[in-house]
Amino acid sequence: MFNKNSQIFVAPMAGITDKPFRKIVRQFAPDVSMVTEMISCHSLVEGHKNCIRNFDNYDDEGNIGAQIFGAEPDLMGQAAKILQDSGAKWIDINMGCPVPKVATRAGAGAFLMKDHVLAGRIIESCVKSVQIPVSVKTRLGWDEEHKDWRDLVRIAAESGAAFVTIHGRTRAQGYSGKSVLPMKPDLPLPIIANGDIKSVEDIEDVQQLGYDGAMIGRGMLGQPWIFGRFCGLCRKPKNIGVTVLNHLDYMIEYYGVKVAIPMFRKHVAWYSAGLPNSAQFRIKVNQITDESELRQAIKDFWLVD
Ligand SMILES: Cc1cc2nc3c(=O)[nH]c(=O)nc-3n(C[C@H](O)[C@H](O)[C@H](O)COP(=O)(O)O)c2cc1C
Repeated sequence: MFNKNSQIFVAPMAGITDKPFRKIVRQFAPDVSMVTEMISCHSLVEGHKNCIRNFDNYDDEGNIGAQIFGAEPDLMGQAAKILQDSGAKWIDINMGCPVPKVATRAGAGAFLMKDHVLAGRIIESCVKSVQIPVSVKTRLGWDEEHKDWRDLVRIAAESGAAFVTIHGRTRAQGYSGKSVLPMKPDLPLPIIANGDIKSVEDIEDVQQLGYDGAMIGRGMLGQPWIFGRFCGLCRKPKNIGVTVLNHLDYMIEYYGVKVAIPMFRKHVAWYSAGLPNSAQFRIKVNQITDESELRQAIKDFWLVD
């Protein structure tokens, strides 16, 4: 296993790794590295920062990178500065998101794998604008015929990036098929491995391949305590239901009841997946709009006193 817990990363996941989720992970893994959900540089710079849901103050959040996406070097630099001033410990640039709204319409995210010159200018602009490290999260390439991530890593290094995270799929693969990473090639930056890493064995595998860290995405859904195991702390909840209730509290505190309850349903589904009677439980929870009713349903399902 990696010898520093900061070499284990919580992946950025839009709609999932919000402040409430991050608070839950921290209970089990105080030193793990985390990346926020992606935030648009336009929203940050053009004054929407007070109303964008996922813009936070990060001072009390430990080792956390704030992720931005966008296609304009100047705006990206300004957004990086705003996040630095809000307490982010490093800035992560999204160069892997395949969603059409980001990658094709906005020319950001995965599109930057097609335009390495622009990618380099964006990284340089962010590096110049902040005093904290800047990283890049990307994929193997645009499609099977263009797996040129090594070139992008070299450009990232020349532009001043501190490290790169590589997801072992192409843009064309989206999130399907297997994530496959080769032996870490000779590259000028530390590389964090990402894609289908779900267990201690998977982490050991990418370490054997020469990678400098491991980032976990979907493998953490419904089991944020796995970071306790991944960080060698063996922390896990005595009763999962208590953690679920805690997570609900944080969601309500952050979003208010009306928004939190429908948003929380997906987490309930992940937490309960595979447990006896979970299908009926999910159907029930999906109809609940009242906070105390939801709390009671969770207590009944996990037998919390
Ligand atoms: C619902 C969802 C939201 C995601 N949001 C982001 C994001 O905001 N920024 C980002 O760089 N990647 C995002 N990703 C990609 C993940 O960070 C990760 O690279 C991908 O899921 C592969 O890792 P995994 O196999 O461990 O899940 C998202 C993935 C999913 C499924």
